[in-house]
Amino acid sequence: MNGLMMNNNTKSYPFPIRFCVTTLLCAALGTTYAQTRPAPEEQTIQPYHYTIQKDTQVAHACVVSAHPLASEVGRWVLQQGGNAVDAAVAMQLALAVVYPAAGNIGGGGFMVIHLNSGTNTVFDYREEAPGKATRNMFLDSLGNPDSRLSLYGALSAGIPGTVAGLWQAWKKYGHLPWRMLVQPAVDLARQGFCITATEARWLNESRKDFLQYNQRPVAFVKSMPWKAGDTLRQPELAETLIQIRDHGRKGFYAGRVARQIVQTMQHHHGLITLRDLRQYRAFERQPVIFDYKGYTIVSVPPPSAGGIMLQQLLGMVSFYPLAQWGYGSPQATQLMIEAERRSYADRARYLGDPDFVHIPVSQLTSMDYLRQRISSYTPGKASRSEDIQSGHFTESEETTHLCVLDAEGNAVSVTYTLNNLYGSKLVVEGAGFLLNDEMDDFSAKPGSPNLYGLTGGEANAIAPHKRMLSSMTPTIVLKNEKPYLITGTPGGSTIITSVFQTIVNILDFHLSPHEAVNNPKFHHQWLPDVVYVEKGFPDSLAQALQAMGYRLVEREAIGRTELIVHPEGEPIIGVGDHRGDDSSAGY
Ligand code: DON
Repeated sequence: MNGLMMNNNTKSYPFPIRFCVTTLLCAALGTTYAQTRPAPEEQTIQPYHYTIQKDTQVAHACVVSAHPLASEVGRWVLQQGGNAVDAAVAMQLALAVVYPAAGNIGGGGFMVIHLNSGTNTVFDYREEAPGKATRNMFLDSLGNPDSRLSLYGALSAGIPGTVAGLWQAWKKYGHLPWRMLVQPAVDLARQGFCITATEARWLNESRKDFLQYNQRPVAFVKSMPWKAGDTLRQPELAETLIQIRDHGRKGFYAGRVARQIVQTMQHHHGLITLRDLRQYRAFERQPVIFDYKGYTIVSVPPPSAGGIMLQQLLGMVSFYPLAQWGYGSPQATQLMIEAERRSYADRARYLGDPDFVHIPVSQLTSMDYLRQRISSYTPGKASRSEDIQSGHFTESEETTHLCVLDAEGNAVSVTYTLNNLYGSKLVVEGAGFLLNDEMDDFSAKPGSPNLYGLTGGEANAIAPHKRMLSSMTPTIVLKNEKPYLITGTPGGSTIITSVFQTIVNILDFHLSPHEAVNNPKFHHQWLPDVVYVEKGFPDSLAQALQAMGYRLVEREAIGRTELIVHPEGEPIIGVGDHRGDDSSAGY
């Protein structure tokens, strides 16, 4: 197992996969496979073993992602001498193949980077509204938002950012040759890979949508229902990845692939043009950086709400004896819920694309403001969201996360997405990749909720080339200027509260990394005025909160958190969330 530490939390898919073989026999669980040829030298990963590895303890370097094959790609890159940025780039391209529900080249995201030189930086490759987008494009004749238009098909897609983001991050901070980072994804797409039970279920559930929103056959639909162990081959995607491998950024935003995107738009009444693609740029931005009890938190700035809200949440709870109250205590849980309520109210009013709206960042995050904001809560009694509006100043649910820590102490935390499961469900014709449905993250009508029940205001209204507000919160926590904790998660609006809880679970409540990720989570987002709790949330705590006046609603899962923790002088611990096929690897 290439030095992987195994534990009883491990699920094995007995399919040895070699990228180099010309024939991969991969029909059902338990089948054995034949390698027909020895590997040519330029081939990428071998031997390849498909194992879901939840918890990993390693000495040198670690990766965690939503799919074991992507984690294997990450480990391979690190072992070839790549740094954390190289690994993160290759893993995202691999996820675009093996985790098509959220891994992508047709979506966008954020990459938070800490380099051992002390540099902290962020790449923003969030999608943008097409140049022809209009403020009311998703309103019906009565002026109400039509979520079918913002969630499905060509109109729901923003201009994709992922390839630009990966290219720009690699150009500035990568180490290995670009083509070496793309090749594993090419191999996986061309030769196919065995799908997990989760993927089979999702593909079957989405079959109707794939058929409805595509005019041509797509790799995700076959005549029989999918089952675990089936092979998913994506030859058109492989050709697209070859364009990206050979021409870098231009292989996507110009030439054949760009024309395929635009033709697909024309066939399906979409808006993205060649000019939109040519003009798209990822931005390197200043991270949100702040201190929390002696730790330095490095997180993502707008157009994600994540970093600012994380600063608000940790700031508000820092005035109270959280650790003394204890993990799972009614007092600590209530405080965290009330902090969440207030922060989400601020988000709705103030946050949007910083290149279009003024965000009063220093006011929103000042300790005086946060102290005053949380002081309105009454211990033992639920506040009501109708009484909490956004603060005033004196001044005028599929996404995926991955974490990497390399042997030199460089760390990368990435969340990227198509928005919900398989994005718009629209596959670019002839190019084999899914487009996002990220336009739904705008406020189609200020004041009306989006897919995640998030209400937004003017700050997040649609405008040409504006980036829609995100909740993605890839985060790195430094201790003594070295990476101590790397985390993030999918989960739409629950992303920020999941990251908040994961950090507090470790820094304040001293839970183990495994517990910090896997224990049931809770979530409050101001509106609707309910506390979402995960299955398995303790009954006694639920009853205590209900007695305070909270309305609780049970949800299947909150987040799918990836985590790496590295206490100084100790082994590195990687944890893949038990809620999915998430898997860690390292050496
Ligand atoms: O950027 C955002 O906040 C959303 N598009 C994320 C969507 C998501 O996490 C879906 N996953 N469950």
